Amino acid sequence: MVDEVTSPLSGEVARSAGGGMGRALAEGELILLVDKVGRRHRVRLKAGERHSLHSGVINHDDLIGRPEGVIVRTQMGARLLAVRPTFAEQVTGRQRQAQPIYPKDLGAILIAADIHPGAKVLEAGTGTGALTLAVLRAVGDRGQVVSYEQREEFLEAAKRAIVDTLGSLPANLTLKLADVYLGIDEQNLDRVLLDLPEPWQAVPAAKAALRPGGIIFAHCPNVSQIQRFFDCLREVRGFGMLEAFELLQRGWTVRGRSMRPSHRMVAHTGFLCFARRLAEDELFEPEGEGFR
Ligand SMILES: C[S@@+](CC[C@H](N)C(=O)[O-])C[C@H]1O[C@@H](n2cnc3c(N)ncnc32)[C@H](O)[C@@H]1O
Repeated sequence: MVDEVTSPLSGEVARSAGGGMGRALAEGELILLVDKVGRRHRVRLKAGERHSLHSGVINHDDLIGRPEGVIVRTQMGARLLAVRPTFAEQVTGRQRQAQPIYPKDLGAILIAADIHPGAKVLEAGTGTGALTLAVLRAVGDRGQVVSYEQREEFLEAAKRAIVDTLGSLPANLTLKLADVYLGIDEQNLDRVLLDLPEPWQAVPAAKAALRPGGIIFAHCPNVSQIQRFFDCLREVRGFGMLEAFELLQRGWTVRGRSMRPSHRMVAHTGFLCFARRLAEDELFEPEGEGFR
């Protein structure tokens, strides 16, 4: 069976064997070519261009107009799978100056900080824009995201990464060249997300900017940072339900009948620290471990 699908971007028709429907790979799109050892090669499709790999050359024209998931061959016969990058592949595959939050942590932050459609979220620092993009997806069109970054070159690079991913800067995103330790202009925020070296320095401003019941989050690579961050929350008061956890992701290698844990794993990245803004200047720290 052959499916014919017209691409909204290029008007091209994708023909694929099988029952799936999809948008054809189009000129200008970023795709991944996955080789036989799983390496992902990022390719921006352009009519008439060629892409050279160790295993041979691929003509972009052999990909444009084909369905996502197609397997193509180099002139040397090597097979390559052509797919659009997932969100996680976009975050980890990009050249970058700052350290992005890893996909394993991004997903957990969105759920544990309850980043919901319509939420008003402040983030600092912007870094590569990985968390910014994840939060934008979660808050949707009705939400608002403000991101503070103190280094101009990082802010510009993040802007490019966001435009690269979404096609343009969304209207509900404000990128600010600012030092969050000096203050937060926004008020009545639902969430404040901190990923910078001294999150405790932003706590007084976050306290003033968060609405009661709002959530503050800090990504802390070191134990000493958790300690100072939580000590500061207790000192300024008005926060409760202090919690921290980390995620260790162990992949499994699945090859035919062989299934075993992978030799390498994404182990320590950072501790994820959360607290709720209280309505009064009190503390609230339940004694038990509670249930998430
Ligand atoms: C680890 S990176 C953030 C990575 C980001 N969460 C991501 O997923 O790509 C830390 C960023 O915080 C910025 N930064 C450090 N101190 C800051 C401050 N006081 N105000 C605003 N940004 C700050 C740094 O320039 C850097 O870009």
